[in-house]
Amino acid sequence: MNTVTQVPLSALKKETSFPLDQWYVAGFSWELKEQPIARTLLNQPVVLFRTGDGVAAALEDRCCHRSVPLSCGTVEKNGVRCGYHGLLYNTHGACIEIPGQEKIPSKAKVRSYTISEKNHILWIWMPKEAGGAPTHEAPDYPHHDDPKYKFGGGVYHYDAPYQLIHDNLLDLSHLGYVHLKTIGGNARQHMTAEMQVSSDEKTVRVVRLMPGTPPPPSYKMAWPFQETCDRWQEIEFNLNHLSIWTGAIEPGTGALDDPQRGGFHLRGLHGITPETETTTHYFWSMASNRHPDMPETIATVLQQIEFTFDEDRVIIEKQYANMKRFGERATWMDIHVDVGANRARRIIAKLIGEQNQPAA
Ligand code: FES
Ligand SMILES: [Fe+2]
Repeated sequence: MNTVTQVPLSALKKETSFPLDQWYVAGFSWELKEQPIARTLLNQPVVLFRTGDGVAAALEDRCCHRSVPLSCGTVEKNGVRCGYHGLLYNTHGACIEIPGQEKIPSKAKVRSYTISEKNHILWIWMPKEAGGAPTHEAPDYPHHDDPKYKFGGGVYHYDAPYQLIHDNLLDLSHLGYVHLKTIGGNARQHMTAEMQVSSDEKTVRVVRLMPGTPPPPSYKMAWPFQETCDRWQEIEFNLNHLSIWTGAIEPGTGALDDPQRGGFHLRGLHGITPETETTTHYFWSMASNRHPDMPETIATVLQQIEFTFDEDRVIIEKQYANMKRFGERATWMDIHVDVGANRARRIIAKLIGEQNQPAA
């Protein structure tokens, strides 16, 4: 190891560097209330809304009349109405009413995006060609609907490129340094824990088992652990989200790599969606089971998780600010914890490389 690599400063380049023809997380179902939401996704300004009929939809955030953002308008039974002169658009982006004018010109329309609403998640298809239809189904995330768990979540915004957040999530050795007050624990045990990394063309899986380790503060608040616990971390990277399944059992009470193991479970969804090349939306949820004597587990867990997100954001935004400060001199070198993150970067580089190939 200890190779010197060219720092992946794709974030500092001008060209778009996102894989397209992909689903990305655009938001959570509970965010769509009476008002439309403005959100830039992969450099594209989008308005998200739910019609009075209950349909979740996404259009480009621009009225075709005089370019006022549709997100400044109002949601109606069958669409969104521009807040300037009242043009009404349906969920496919077609103007269906011009107040005071009978004839609707054929060019009275805006671009629409396909939304798939599943498991309380709003997935948006970001096509390579405008109007391109999805080539596959949006991902399943059944843990939001699993009665074993209770969950909550939220949305964070980062002034940093999305791949720096992937790096952070694929390398949980940082817990012992960044998250000492919450989900951390013994830093040396985190750094020396055996790590198994496997991958294919689309996913990277990192598993770390830490038997006989002191339970971190967050775990103790949510579960009655004593001096030590046996702890696991299973991370699965997909381009559009990472699933991180962590938890712990009382020492010696079961096989640590058994998916049916008991103890305290945390199932995290991390939907990392680029806003621009240099900024990112971070859609997260955390689901956990409850100890019978500690019914408030999920409230405690969510509070603690918010703390950890603050801790991560501080360090990642500082990291990116420093990368910009040093520019081309900000070269990177790899250490043993970087295997999973580097594989994820290779998957993304391959996807972008393929889509930038000139058509045959
Ligand atoms: S700008 Fe939207 S109706 Fe005029
Ligand atoms: Fe972290």
